[in-house]
Amino acid sequence: MCGIVGAVAQRDVADILVEGLKRLEYRGYDSAGVAVINNNNELQATKRLGKVQELAQALEQQPVTGGTGIAHTRWATHGIPSEVNAHPHVSNNTIAVVHNGIIENHQSLRSQLQGLGYEFLSQTDTEVITHLVHHELKTSDTLLAAVQKTVKQLEGAYGTVVMDSRDQDNIIVARSGSPLVIGYGLGENFIASDIMALLPVTRKFSYLEEGDVAQISRFNVSIFDTHGEPVEREAKEANVSHDSGDKGEYRHYMLKETYEQPTAIRNSLEGRLVGGMLDINTFGEGADEIFKNVEHVQIIACGTSYHSGMVARYWLEELAGVSCNIEIASEFRYRKSFVPKNSLLVTISQSGETADTLAALRLAKEIGYQSSLVICNVPGSSLVRESDLAFMTRAGAEIGVASTKAFTTQLVGLLMMTLAIGQHHGMSDKKQAEITQSLMSLPAKLDEVLALASSIEDLAEDFADKHHALFLGRGDQYPIAMEGALKLKEISYIHAEAYAAGELKHGPLALIDAEMPVIVVAPKNDLIEKLKSNVEEVRARGGLMYVFADNDANFSSDDTMKVIDVPVCDDIIAPIVYTLPLQLLSYYVAIIKGTDVDQPRNLAKSVTVE
Ligand code: F6R
Repeated sequence: MCGIVGAVAQRDVADILVEGLKRLEYRGYDSAGVAVINNNNELQATKRLGKVQELAQALEQQPVTGGTGIAHTRWATHGIPSEVNAHPHVSNNTIAVVHNGIIENHQSLRSQLQGLGYEFLSQTDTEVITHLVHHELKTSDTLLAAVQKTVKQLEGAYGTVVMDSRDQDNIIVARSGSPLVIGYGLGENFIASDIMALLPVTRKFSYLEEGDVAQISRFNVSIFDTHGEPVEREAKEANVSHDSGDKGEYRHYMLKETYEQPTAIRNSLEGRLVGGMLDINTFGEGADEIFKNVEHVQIIACGTSYHSGMVARYWLEELAGVSCNIEIASEFRYRKSFVPKNSLLVTISQSGETADTLAALRLAKEIGYQSSLVICNVPGSSLVRESDLAFMTRAGAEIGVASTKAFTTQLVGLLMMTLAIGQHHGMSDKKQAEITQSLMSLPAKLDEVLALASSIEDLAEDFADKHHALFLGRGDQYPIAMEGALKLKEISYIHAEAYAAGELKHGPLALIDAEMPVIVVAPKNDLIEKLKSNVEEVRARGGLMYVFADNDANFSSDDTMKVIDVPVCDDIIAPIVYTLPLQLLSYYVAIIKGTDVDQPRNLAKSVTVE
C-alpha cells in the first residue's frame, strides 16, 4: 500500500523518482507526488490526483531539478484521494514527508500540534509526522535526532521518508510495520518501499528492520536500531531482472502473468524434485526435523493466498494424514485460539508484507506454535525473515493487482509441503511418486489450458450485461470456485459469490434465475455425481450455467448450459489446472466491462496496513 521512493544523488533525481513510482504503482494509484530540493535550498513539490502518468506529464511541463528528493504514490486511508491529500506533505516550506502505513494516534497528535500553532491542510494522518518533525527540530541538533524523537511518539505503522530543504545532503527514513529497502549506488543512495522501484539504478539492497531509523547521504548510510544504537543491515545483490516490470507484448500485466504460469511453475519446481525425490532443504535449514515432529498444521493468509491455503487443507488431511486448520489472518490475530501440540504455523503471502498475516505470525510465536513456515514470492520480505522456514515460489514479480501466477505457484509450494510432511507420516512410496509425477506434468498441462483462451473470450460476451454471478465447486474445487469469484469481482466489479455446491439448497438456490450466471468447476472426480445433482437443481430453476469440465465428466452443452472442455488431468493437480480458465474468464469479462484490469478501483497489491 502506497509506494515510496527517495534519492540522494549528484544528478537530478526527478526522472529516477517518477520511474520508481511507475514501478510501484501497483501499491496504490489514486494520487502521486514528488518533492526535490533545488540548488537554492527550496522545496519544489508537484502533486497530482490520479495515476503516476498525470504526475509525469505535469513534471514534463514544469520540470523540477535537484539531487535530493522523495516521491509517493498513494492508496488512500485517511482522507479522500485528492491533490491536497497526496504526499509529500510539507511543513513550513522546509520539511517534506512521504509515508506508508497508518498513524493510529494521529487525532491526538493533530490537536497537540494545532495547539502549538501548526495549521493542517490535509485530512491525512501523515501530516502530523511533517509538523512533528518540524517541531522536534527546534530542539534537536540534526534532522536524524528530530525524526528519532518523532517516531517515538507515533503509534501504528509507518515506513516514512523525511527531508529538510535546508539540508541537501541527507534524507532520513524510518520503518515500523511498513517495509523500506535501501538501494546502494556509486556516490548516490536510494530508498524505496520495494526493490522493484530501484532496479534501474541499483542491484544492491538492504532491508530495514522493525524500529530502524537511517540517515541516507550520497556516500554513506547510517542505520540505528529502535534503541538508537548503530547497526549493520546486510546488503545483498538482488537476482531480479530489470525488465520484470515490463508488459512485453501483452495488453495487461494480468494477461502476461496468466500466460507466465507454465514457466513460473517450471521455475518453482526446478532443482526441487531431484530424480523424483523432493529436496527437503528447499524449505530451509532444519525442515526435516520440523516436519518430522509436526502433528498439526495451522494455515493463515488473506484473500487469494487464503484460497490456496484452503486447497492445502484438503491435500494435507487426505494425502499426508495430518490435521489442518485454515483461518483468515485478520480473524486469527484478534481471537484467543487453542494451539494443538506440535503445531506448525504456515503463512501464505505473495508479498510477504501483508500486515494481518505478519501480525498473525508474530502472535503465533507468542502463543506457543512450535515452528513457522511461509510460502512466499518475495525474498527478503518480512514474513520470510521472521519465519523459521520458507518456500520461495519463484513466480517472478507480479504487478497485476489480481493475483494469478503467485496463486498457482503457492499451490505448487503447498503440494510440495504436503509431500514433505507426508514422507514423515506414512505416505506410501506410490502416493509420493504420483504427486511428484503430477507436479512434473503441470507446466505442459497448463500450456494446453491456455489454448482455451479464445473460446473463453467468446464466452465472456455473455457477461456483458450481468451484475451478479455464482460459482460452484465441491471438495478441493470449492476453494477454486471461491478464487474464481474473487477474481471476477475484483477486476470486473461483477458481484460474485462462491458456494460449496452442496450448500445450494440451504439458501443460494433462491437467487437462481436467468440473470444469475452460474459457473461450475467440474472435473471428473469422486464427487462428480454429487455435483451433477446440484447442476440439475440449478437447471430445474431456470439457471444458466457455464461448466468447466473434462471430457470424462460427461457434460454436454445445451440451452441451459455451455460446457468448456478442460484437458483431463490428475485429480491432485486439478485445483491448479482449473484455476487458469477462471482467471481468463475474469480477464475477458473485465475487458468487456472496460475496467482498469491491472489496477482495479479501491485496491492495492501489497496490503501493509490493517
Ligand atoms: C487478490 C489478491 C489479494 C491478495 C491478498 C493477500 O487477487 O491478490 O486477495 O491475495 O491481499 O496478499 P498477499 O498474498 O501478498 O499476502
